[in-house]
Order: sequence, then structure tokens, then C-alpha cells
Amino acid sequence: MTDRLDPRLGNGRLARILYSAEAVRQRVEELAEAIHQDLGADEDLLVLGLLKGSFVFMADLVRAIPRPLEVDFIRVASYGQETVSTGDVELLYDPETSLKGRSVVIVEDIIDSGTTLQWLLPRLEERGPRRLEVCALLHKRTVSLDPHPRWVGFDAPREFLVGYGLDCAEQFRNLPYIGALETGDRSSRDG
Ligand code: IMP
Ligand code: MG
Repeated sequence: MTDRLDPRLGNGRLARILYSAEAVRQRVEELAEAIHQDLGADEDLLVLGLLKGSFVFMADLVRAIPRPLEVDFIRVASYGQETVSTGDVELLYDPETSLKGRSVVIVEDIIDSGTTLQWLLPRLEERGPRRLEVCALLHKRTVSLDPHPRWVGFDAPREFLVGYGLDCAEQFRNLPYIGALETGDRSSRDG
């Protein structure tokens, strides 16, 4: 189905499709295998998805990781206008799950300014995980993150992307592929 005919788009328009559903599926499988290989056999894995954007990626990723693991979610909102983040971040949902002594992999849909992770990582580090790593499906490499995310799916262009969990004003999360939106409203930055 071409994007022009996709009823999921409603009145929205894509400039183009960047990563097809098949390209995403293949890359997610590679990421899952890399995570499995990089962790020791004895590590107690907790996969922590950043809501809302990571929910589709997370569902595919955890099913492709061939080892026992636990899943939880965390929700933060970062505030800003258009594509410029103000740096204000708020924790909206905090997992009950303990991180202490565990290998925690944060799953993020897309890294742009890095504001969200730079705020969140030190706060999670305080909870005493054995290790804390980041797996991001997309990375715009707008900034150099410290520490670098350990696993990255695709180096993304600095455009506004939607689909496979990523939204624009809460729309388009249900596209099975990832596309660049034709320039228009970019108001939603949370989740
Ligand atoms: P950051 O804090 O600037 O790295 O980005 C935080 C969040 O902004 C990401 O987790 C996404 O939810 C959202 N975001 C950034 N770029 C895009 C995009 O191109 N499309 C959809 N959401 C985005
Ligand atoms: Mg997000």
C-alpha cells in the first residue's frame, strides 16, 4: 500500500517513507540479537520503555530477545515549542519495579536533543542498577549524548518523523512504517 492511499494517514501527508515495515522488522531483530549478545548470561534484564513513543518498538523488540526478561514502562514529558526543547522534563509515570542490581535497558523511540535522556539517566542511576543502557530505534545525532546510547537502529535525518509509535499531535502512531511528515504542525513533543 502506498502512503497516499493509507487510510491511517487521514488528512496527513508524508513527504516520503524512510523505513518500510520490513526494514524496521529486520533492524529490530538485529538490535534484539545485539542486546542478547552484549549481556552476560547471568544478567537480570529489565527492559524499560519510554512512553508513549516506544510502545510499538518495545513490543517487537522484547519478543525478539531470546532470554528471560522483565518489562516495565516509564513516562516523561519534555516541554518545548516546535523542535526546540526548553529542557523542562517531568516524570509522569514512574515504575514500581526495583532497578537495584539489575541490568536495565531503556528503550527510546527517537533521540533528538537528548534532553529527555540527559534528565532521566542520572535519576535512574541513583536507584542502583548493575548497569543502565539505552536502546534507541532512531537517533538524529543533533547532539553528542554522554553516555552514548549503546544500541541505535537508524541514524535518522533531522526531519519530523512519524509512524511505528512516533506521533505528531498524537496521530500516526499506528503506521507500520516510519515516514517524514510534510511540513505542518509539530506541536506534540511528549511521549
Ligand atoms: P529529545 O529529548 O529531544 O531527545 O526527544 C524527546 C522526544 O521527543 C522523543 O522521545 C520523541 O517522543 C519526541 N521526538 C523527537 N523527535 C521526534 C520526531 O521526529 N517525531 C516524533 N517525535 C519526536
Ligand atoms: Mg519518546
